[in-house]
Amino acid sequence: MTIRLLGTGRCMPPTVLKNSEFVKTLDTSDEWIVKRTGIRERRIAKNETLLDIALGAARKAIENAPKRNGEDFPVDAVIATSATQEYHFPPLACQIGTALGLDGPFCMDVGATCSGFIYGLDAAAHYLNAGSAERVLVVSAEKLSALTDYTDRATCILFGDGAAAAVVSKGDKPYTSHLGCAPDTENCLYARAGEKLVMKGSGVYKFAVTVAPKAVEAVMKKASLTPGDIDWFILHQANIRIIESVIDRLQLDPAKVPITLDHYANPSSATIPLTLDLMREDGRLKPGQRILMLGFGAGLTYGASIMEV
Ligand code: UT7
Repeated sequence: MTIRLLGTGRCMPPTVLKNSEFVKTLDTSDEWIVKRTGIRERRIAKNETLLDIALGAARKAIENAPKRNGEDFPVDAVIATSATQEYHFPPLACQIGTALGLDGPFCMDVGATCSGFIYGLDAAAHYLNAGSAERVLVVSAEKLSALTDYTDRATCILFGDGAAAAVVSKGDKPYTSHLGCAPDTENCLYARAGEKLVMKGSGVYKFAVTVAPKAVEAVMKKASLTPGDIDWFILHQANIRIIESVIDRLQLDPAKVPITLDHYANPSSATIPLTLDLMREDGRLKPGQRILMLGFGAGLTYGASIMEV
């Protein structure tokens, strides 16, 4: 299979919630949060709906994709990912399609929590390579603040809101993926309908540090590549210590592992496209570079993929 990244975009709500805010109501400190997680601040969608931020990201990704005959080329499909849906239905992807004025493209949601973007992109790759679509918009949008219990110091510090999107087409460079699910026998991370999220942090942590290096190794093996062949390792931004453990375990060059959780914390499935978009904007991500992306989260889901940008 092949895939080509045509455009990316993000919409991060303007309200910044710094660690110092938590100190006012909880028994915590900026020092504890930074040391245990690497997070300094996060964005919160105070006045924006999930659709507002999803649309903002979608429009920018479409704008940034190459035009055809001077016009935005309409996408053939919209795939949305969100662990924090505001509606049981219609699907977020259909809401995005309606708001963009699309009439015809198929629109669907892919639910894979924090691995959502990797799964959404993988679905896009399959549709593109089967010839079912020419350009797919993948949008990952999250409003974790709506599900967060701000009296629980062990979870509220970790999450943030935000949306990011990518427009992809079939390409001429190989795309490889490795997706999986592990049983969550201890109910480590869940949110029942209408209730706040519940997490056993140490359980998620153990799962992440075990599965992350294995998934990275598995996708590199499938693609017959080694760490030296990869320009960027774009890892889900959950906790700096999880990222550092992957770096240690696989002896990766830390300079190849971008960090965005310091300013944006963990907006679930949006962390990976957000990092991609920030890197495209600041020029770090250059055409022809090979990236490896890794997501993991509630489910327990995980997924890794390799593509050239
Ligand atoms: O996308 C996936 C989403 N979820 C995750 O990635 C979560 C992964 N897990 C983690 O990131 C870490 O487990 C946490 C950051 C949640 C917790 O860090 P930890 O080093 O595993 O701490 P711990 O759970 O072992 O707790 C150590 C202590 C406890 O106090 P006691 O029982 O030893 O007195 C906690 O109550 O730290 C306490 N604690 C805090 N103290 C100050 C927990 N949260 C805080 C806090 N400030 N915010």
